[in-house]
Amino acid sequence: MCGIVGVVGKNDATTIILNGLKRLEYRGYDSAGIYVAGDESHLVKAIGPIKNLEEKLDTTITGTMGIGHTRWATHGKPTVANAHPHTSQNGELVLVHNGVIENYDELRQTYLATDHFYGQTDTEIAVHLIAHFKNTGLTTKAAFKKALAVIDGSYAFALVDTKDSETIYVAKNKSPLLIGLGEGFNVLCSDALAMLDQTNRFVELTDGEMVTLTADNVTIENAAGEIIKRDYYVAELDASDIEKGTYPYYMLKEIDEQPVVMRKIVQKYQNDDGSVAIDQNLLTSLKNSDRIYIVACGTSSHAGWAAKKFFETLTQIPVEIHLSSEFGYNMPLLSEKPFFIYLSQSGETADSRQVLVKTNELAYPSLTITNVAGSTLSREATYTLLLHAGPEIAVASTKAYTAQIAVMAVLAKALGVEKGISAALQFDLFHELSLVASAMETMINEKESLAELTADYLTDTRNAFYIGRGNDYYVSMEAALKLKEISYLQAEGFAAGELKHGTIALIEEGTPVIGIITDAVTGPHTRGNLQEVTSRGARTLVIATEDLAKADDQILLPTVHPLLSSLLAVVPTQLIAYFATLQRGYDVDKPRNLAKSVTVE
Ligand code: G6P
Repeated sequence: MCGIVGVVGKNDATTIILNGLKRLEYRGYDSAGIYVAGDESHLVKAIGPIKNLEEKLDTTITGTMGIGHTRWATHGKPTVANAHPHTSQNGELVLVHNGVIENYDELRQTYLATDHFYGQTDTEIAVHLIAHFKNTGLTTKAAFKKALAVIDGSYAFALVDTKDSETIYVAKNKSPLLIGLGEGFNVLCSDALAMLDQTNRFVELTDGEMVTLTADNVTIENAAGEIIKRDYYVAELDASDIEKGTYPYYMLKEIDEQPVVMRKIVQKYQNDDGSVAIDQNLLTSLKNSDRIYIVACGTSSHAGWAAKKFFETLTQIPVEIHLSSEFGYNMPLLSEKPFFIYLSQSGETADSRQVLVKTNELAYPSLTITNVAGSTLSREATYTLLLHAGPEIAVASTKAYTAQIAVMAVLAKALGVEKGISAALQFDLFHELSLVASAMETMINEKESLAELTADYLTDTRNAFYIGRGNDYYVSMEAALKLKEISYLQAEGFAAGELKHGTIALIEEGTPVIGIITDAVTGPHTRGNLQEVTSRGARTLVIATEDLAKADDQILLPTVHPLLSSLLAVVPTQLIAYFATLQRGYDVDKPRNLAKSVTVE
């Protein structure tokens, strides 16, 4: 979703900003823009990829200060007029914004009734509003502050006054923004990844703060105007972590990295004596709860479903999975002692955060499981567990999904042991995860045959179905999401037994139906359901574990512990989505309309 970068105090601001914007591409965007101040200033915007912006930009014009933006359209279509930066009516102020200004219409009517606007964005109203206050005789900073006091909603803002090429004003509320510290320069960015080639020292901002950034000074103030002192942290990422290397797409690289991620999780969460390394306070808090509520969106919610069965088996605590966007505004009747787990790869998802804000107000304990240390959900939850999956750049989540399941398994094992549950005491989790890692490698080596099967089954179809029962149903939901989000095939994941209660009406001659079978009890029933669709013309493809496979099954999974079967069953489905997308000629890493980090509700 929208990305912001900026720099002050370095000669080649244009290049730094363009490189930063490219590193934010993964978040999803449909237009981009840049403003560079210096001897000559430059404001350029373009729709489509960053290369369109580069083509329009005279890169010989550079300066020591500038801001850039990638926009994922919310208010108004992706047009040049709606792309950021936006300027005030007299062109003096330049602003980029990530977030949604909820009272923009009211602000326009109250303060800006006679202003002319070029586009439809809420951001344009914000920059006009700052100019409006400035015209009453205030300094740029004071006008910015006054505007912030009347703006409702989420924002990360970077503002420059074209008459002052040495200062960037920044503000943050509910949208991510970091300050990066350099020697003789400073930067700002929505994600540390964007500026890792400039610095690894970053300062987090909290909601309601405003920052004045110059080449050698960073002044943070809270809403009351008090100066805040905050230490920087060193980002542990390496710039090479975000390179594709020899891979054609990040998604393929990230699928291939899954065995390594499994081993990393084993290494990070294992004590020398083989026990699980989890904060005792977290375990005590979980032990005292009577029900666990997993709150998440998209792929992360599917990881929650995949974790439900083993979590309940190993801990004997009931687990409910909820979509964040539903839960916050339709909160179910909670148990007496609820514990909330927020699953979020990015740690920034606004839908999840709005629930966390509410559960914090109710003083319920919470845990965020995320790939991004220091992310908003991590900072605001009581506890954090990290995925250690390395940056995930492709919009379609793969290694973060399996890492979330694995970390949930680590937590379940530790909690089950803490509670003395025999299923947990007998479960050699780290050994089983190592077996999963090897089995994943075996699946990943099957790429060629998966590419052929995908071409055979999915080339001439407009839709496809995944079916399964229990854990296999939960993997079906994720498999279908992967396929639809990048190949644009209409794909659905169904509980196999439910097909005959409605969806079977969609089966036509040749409709692909992929069955997932990893469970000895439900497997025969799913096979029965596959027969039902075959009789109605479907072309079926079976993904089954070796011990349950029949002679005609096309994709065989090495057998792993049944509680962890989702970790393996999902891998061929990720590759099927990847190949279907390649074969259809679409960009695997940047599907249309989607954003990686969804920072608006
Ligand atoms: C977006 C992404 C999905 C992701 C979801 C939740 O929709 O495109 O891949 O699963 O957000 O993101 P989170 O960072 O909270 O896991």
